[in-house]
Amino acid sequence: MVVILGLEGTAWNLSAALVTEDRVIYDVESSYKPLHGGIHPREAAQHHASELKRVVSQLIEGASAKDEDFSIGDIEGVAFSQGPGMGPCLRTVATAARALALTLKVPLIGVNHCIAHIEIGRWRCGTEDPVVLYVSGANSQVLAYHTGRYRILGETLDIGIGNALDKFARYIGLEHPGGPKVEELASKGTRYIHLPYVVKGMDFSFSGLTTAAKEAVDAGNSLEDVCYSFQETAFAMLTEVTERAMAYCGKDEMLLAGGVGANRRLQQMLRTMCGDRGARFFVPESKYLKDNGAMIAYLGLLQFQSGQTLPIEDSAVRPNFRPDEVEVKWRVR
Ligand code: ATP
Ligand code: FE2
Repeated sequence: MVVILGLEGTAWNLSAALVTEDRVIYDVESSYKPLHGGIHPREAAQHHASELKRVVSQLIEGASAKDEDFSIGDIEGVAFSQGPGMGPCLRTVATAARALALTLKVPLIGVNHCIAHIEIGRWRCGTEDPVVLYVSGANSQVLAYHTGRYRILGETLDIGIGNALDKFARYIGLEHPGGPKVEELASKGTRYIHLPYVVKGMDFSFSGLTTAAKEAVDAGNSLEDVCYSFQETAFAMLTEVTERAMAYCGKDEMLLAGGVGANRRLQQMLRTMCGDRGARFFVPESKYLKDNGAMIAYLGLLQFQSGQTLPIEDSAVRPNFRPDEVEVKWRVR
């Protein structure tokens, strides 16, 4: 069995996992929680640096205790998130990955964080060739595979939907991460307040919507109604573009990826849209939607098997790494 160790730490979540072809052997995580405001890149990096040794040790010990078949000598590669993400966080985790690869005398594998979100979803859900809606804090993209690459068909022109929800949530006094708390409030909203719906071609934008939602709160509307209207507007934008992408590509599967994918209302809108067009909707369990080490280890495994490893001297982090820069050698079509 080929075992790959994966390290994730692009932003708030430091996590490590061991994955083999048919299963996640073990995973351990440690989350950074900002005391005030949003994620501070340097503080998050310090969190990762101070937790790395414990997380990796627990991973090896936990896996050895749980799985009799596993021993540390089985690890054939060390994968890490090369980007996109916050520079200080990426550098901290990359340093650990290089040290581990050198110590274990195995290749280093640099993976694109966005593609890792996609591939773990395909693996867990068994979907072959979906249009992907990838929605997280920093990123919001609609992608599909075509001739050797994941092509970005549409994306946010400013901030990611998760960031928009977190900023709005902070404004109304909720702690980070705000997305789940906005969802909770939205479920009690009853009145739709008009907010800017911004879709330009295949792209979308959320900053005007966020500002208008703050103004709607200041104007005295209930938090529940504003959260409800925020979600209805933003998620309808995402659903519209995803549907158009499916029509363009002629694909009849759709995969939801990224932390915001945990939102039940977003799932419901997409499921309805897919149902209406006779397409199948897929979403993995929540632990594989948010940032996780298993997705890095799993994409690392695919790349390892297709020979896409990384010499240490080429392993500089790539904070603006875009998914369409990656040659996808592990897919046949
Ligand atoms: P990336 O580097 O891919 O942008 P990330 O660091 O933002 O990832 P994720 O775990 O993929 O991390 O996503 C976190 C985001 O998901 C946060 O903005 C959070 O508010 C949002 N989120 C989590 N649960 C929900 C939910 N139920 N509804 C809406 N948003 C949610
Ligand atoms: Fe992510």
